[in-house]
This record gives sequence, C-alpha cells and structure tokens, in this order.
Amino acid sequence: MTPPVIEAKGITKAFGATLALDHVDLEVEAGTVLGLLGPNGAGKTTFVRILTTLLRADAGSASVVGLDVTRDAVALRSAIGLAGQYAAVDELLTGRENLELVGLLYHLGKAERRRRAVETLERLALTEAADRQVKTYSGGMRRRLDVGASLVGRPKVLFLDEPTTGLDPATRIDLWRFIETLVEEGATVLLTTQYLEEADHLANRIVVIDHGRVIAEGTSNELKAQLGGAVLEVTVTEGDQLHKAADLLADLGHSPPGEDLTRNLVTIPSDADPKVIVEAARRLGDRGIGLEDIALRRPSLDDVFLSLTGHGAEDGPGQGAGPDDEPASSHGARR
Ligand SMILES: Nc1ncnc2c1ncn2[C@@H]1O[C@H](COP(=O)(O)OP(=O)(O)O)[C@@H](O)[C@H]1O
Ligand SMILES: [Mg+2]
Repeated sequence: MTPPVIEAKGITKAFGATLALDHVDLEVEAGTVLGLLGPNGAGKTTFVRILTTLLRADAGSASVVGLDVTRDAVALRSAIGLAGQYAAVDELLTGRENLELVGLLYHLGKAERRRRAVETLERLALTEAADRQVKTYSGGMRRRLDVGASLVGRPKVLFLDEPTTGLDPATRIDLWRFIETLVEEGATVLLTTQYLEEADHLANRIVVIDHGRVIAEGTSNELKAQLGGAVLEVTVTEGDQLHKAADLLADLGHSPPGEDLTRNLVTIPSDADPKVIVEAARRLGDRGIGLEDIALRRPSLDDVFLSLTGHGAEDGPGQGAGPDDEPASSHGARR
C-alpha cells in the first residue's frame, strides 16, 4: 500500500468565534480525485489554504506527498498547484505573460518558461487569445488560465478550489474534461465544490462537510446507498395539501419526507418497490388529495445532501468566505 498523497488529521481552525474547521480528517490516494463537497461557508477554502501552507491550523496535522504543511512548507509549495475560487491572474498582462510569470516564480529558465507557457495555452485552448490582455477574456477563459497557471510547475498534486463556480454549463464541462485528462496523466486532485453533480462526475471519493465538520464520506454510490433504494416523488395538485400529503405518506419512507412548496412536491426516501407507489396513490385517493404526478427514482446526491444536512446544497453558489478571502495570487510557487 502506498501512503496517501494528501493526509489530514484533526485539522481545526477558528476565526474568532467562528469554528471554520472542527477536527477534519481526510486522505486522498495517489491518482484519484477527492471531492470536498459543502455549501458556502462550510470551511472548504480554509481547509485548502491550510493544506497549501497559506494558513496555519490551530490544531491537527497534515501532509502532502509526505511533506508536513508546517515543517516542510517550502518544499511542499513547489510540489503542488493551487487554483483558487477567484481568478488570480493579472488583468493587464496577456495570457502568455501571466503563464511566463508563473514560470519565473518557479525559477524556470527563459526557454523553459516560454515552452511551458505555449504548452499550457494549447492545452487550455487559449492559444488564439494568448497575446491579448486578460481583461478582454471571458469568465471561462480567465478560469482556464488560472487553472493553467497552477499547472506550469507540472505539479503532481493539484488543489482546485471551486474551479467551476460561476461558469456557464458548457465551459464547466470543458473544464471537467480537462481535469479528467490531468488525472489520467497521473495527477492527484483535491477539488472543492458546491455542485453535487460535479462531485458525482469527477470525484472517486466524496467528503461532505458542513459547518466545518465532516458529515459523510464515501463514493457517490455509497452516499446514495445511505438513502436506501429510491426516492418516492409525489406532486400534488393543490399546494395547501402538501403538508397533509407528506404526513400521510411519512411512514412509507426510512427518513422524514421533504416538502418543496415551489413545486408542490413531497419526496420520501423509500425502497425501490413499486408497491410503494400503489400504496401512496391509494392513501392520497382515499383522502381526496389530487395527484399531479407520482414516481420512484434513484436518489441523487442532492437528496443525500438534503437528508444529511436538513438543507439544500444549492442555495446558490455565491461569494464565499470572509473578509480576507483568497489572496490575489495563489499559485504554489508564489509564496
Ligand atoms: N479570514 C477569515 N476571517 C474570518 N472568518 C473567516 C475567514 N476565512 C473564513 N472565515 C469564516 O470561516 C467559515 C468557513 O469559510 P470558508 O472556508 O471560506 O468556507 P467555504 O470555502 O466552504 O465557503 C465561514 O464562516 C467564513 O466566514
Ligand atoms: Mg470557498
């Protein structure tokens, strides 16, 4: 067994009265993607900053490629790449200049800096825009350049903090493909996200955090299995009957029903057994509650999150974190 590439034990960090991380343990095996999934304010960025030596934990220990985040910080920084939630590229420079600058920070020679900039621009489909100032780039292009900047040092371990937040769906999928390519080539990735489908799609393992605490972990299938076989979805015709319907059907599920008022929808984690549908329809019919739709479907990661936290994960990825957010430059070699 090779030791994990990323290993954290009991990581704890408070900002004043806010306990941002509360004894977080986590391991990432070589060549895999770990998805750190959690809503805004869960502690994801704080955790990434600790693992990338930008911030010190109050307690606990962590290492990356066997290097301790405090004792071996300098060596650790040159072994990793970090792309933050907010693009850390210089607006006034061109894409190429930004990448060559990162190469300089890695102490690469001039020819090598140029070569890697060209190669990175190509990989990120930014060759055509290479000599334009970044301020003319779209949001998606900036994000690609930012991820590109984290690759110039050819790190074996990548930290991607909400790499696709705020991107349009097509650009997001492009970036997913690119991350998959890096992993095929042997990179180990810790990726934070608020998007359930992103963790589902990219991550081999998922760690769910909420309020600084790990509340679940496993593969996406394992997490889905925690909900039992299926989710019964019942849409009623009259919104004011929603609550009554949920009460009537509650004992058909393994955990309390969810009520979505905007869609007149009751969701009940239950067995993947069609008898559940028949029984639910009968009960509602007996009480004269109008039924718009009824179905059994596989649970989504969204259902898992809802049942774990009691709140949705998609209250909308917005502006993260506190007063001192992602620093202006966030590539490994810069500090
Ligand atoms: N520098 C800071 N000063 C004060 N509070 C902070 C700071 N950084 C983060 N926090 C707080 O710590 C918690 C976790 O934040 P963060 O790690 O940014 O979460 P996430 O990245 O999951 O959105 C939040 O309550 C946030 O407001
Ligand atoms: Mg964050």
